[in-house]
Amino acid sequence: MPVFPIRRLRRLRETIKIRDLMREITLLPNNLICPIFVQENLENKISVPSMPNIERLSITNVINEIGEIDELNIPAIMLFGIPSHKDENGTSAFNQNGIIQNTITEIKKYYKNTIIISDVCLCQYTKSGHCGLISNGVINNDLSIKTLAKIAVSHAEAGADIVSPSAMMDGQVSTIRQELDDAGFTSTAIMSHSAKHSSSFYSPFRDIAECAPKFGDRKSYQVSFTNPNESIREVETDINEGVDIIMIKPALSYLDLIYQTKKTFNMPLAAYSVSGEYALIKSAAKQGWIPEKEIINEVLHSIKRAGADMIITYFAKDFAHNFYEQH
Ligand code: PBG
Repeated sequence: MPVFPIRRLRRLRETIKIRDLMREITLLPNNLICPIFVQENLENKISVPSMPNIERLSITNVINEIGEIDELNIPAIMLFGIPSHKDENGTSAFNQNGIIQNTITEIKKYYKNTIIISDVCLCQYTKSGHCGLISNGVINNDLSIKTLAKIAVSHAEAGADIVSPSAMMDGQVSTIRQELDDAGFTSTAIMSHSAKHSSSFYSPFRDIAECAPKFGDRKSYQVSFTNPNESIREVETDINEGVDIIMIKPALSYLDLIYQTKKTFNMPLAAYSVSGEYALIKSAAKQGWIPEKEIINEVLHSIKRAGADMIITYFAKDFAHNFYEQH
């Protein structure tokens, strides 16, 4: 006999029913947000090798896609636009008949209840591919936030439920809040990419969204992965500026920050599991090196466990399909 009795934690793991009873974390399709790429004047869907099964869609394709998403009980989409026209000032981003504005209007005709979260940024719309506007060779922060607010208001006018600034410009949240309120859109919420890190995990996204910077990099506006305290300060600043939902991005290599942010602020928290995270799993699964469904399930649960209330993920449909197969 051992001196101390064996502590038998296995007692509560013996059957499926007791394991279900003991379950601590639950992830449901209604915790997920599905990213969608919509391209202006598109005839045939366009795919890129780095993002298998994710395509650039036309507006008509988007309506069909939302039908599927709705049936899977995924409540929200995040819309990214690829315009036909790019210029210095990103004017097609706030055009009333721009690709995002037209897509939102069309979606609302058919799916009133789907939560539309619109990406508010400039990189797909500017010739430079930067998230802010350039004056004299450098990012002009204060001019950029005015334009971002204009974009946000144009999305709200089209019917966006939540606007999601991803440019990492200082003051973007307060400026957008002010302009939305002034235009009467007091109910439109803001989900800010609060701590968006300068990450190489975005590279497949830049293929599909056509938004790589033409010169330099994004290090003067996105946070470094070496600076966790600065990430927390970014989140705190957004909260002080009136954000509704904060976001940490990417997710998998940033679980510590998801955990810390939730513990520190206890605010609604989204995690963005980005394109590179998707590519890693898809490519290894294609080789047969890892079991895809199980890995998706485990990874998304880890993000929820760290503290995310909701996850923006390219696996949203895959997860929901697997979920309903098992339930
Ligand atoms: C640009 C933007 C990026 C992503 C979302 N919005 C790329 C970037 O900052 O270069 C990345 C998302 C992903 O990788 O899935 N505003």
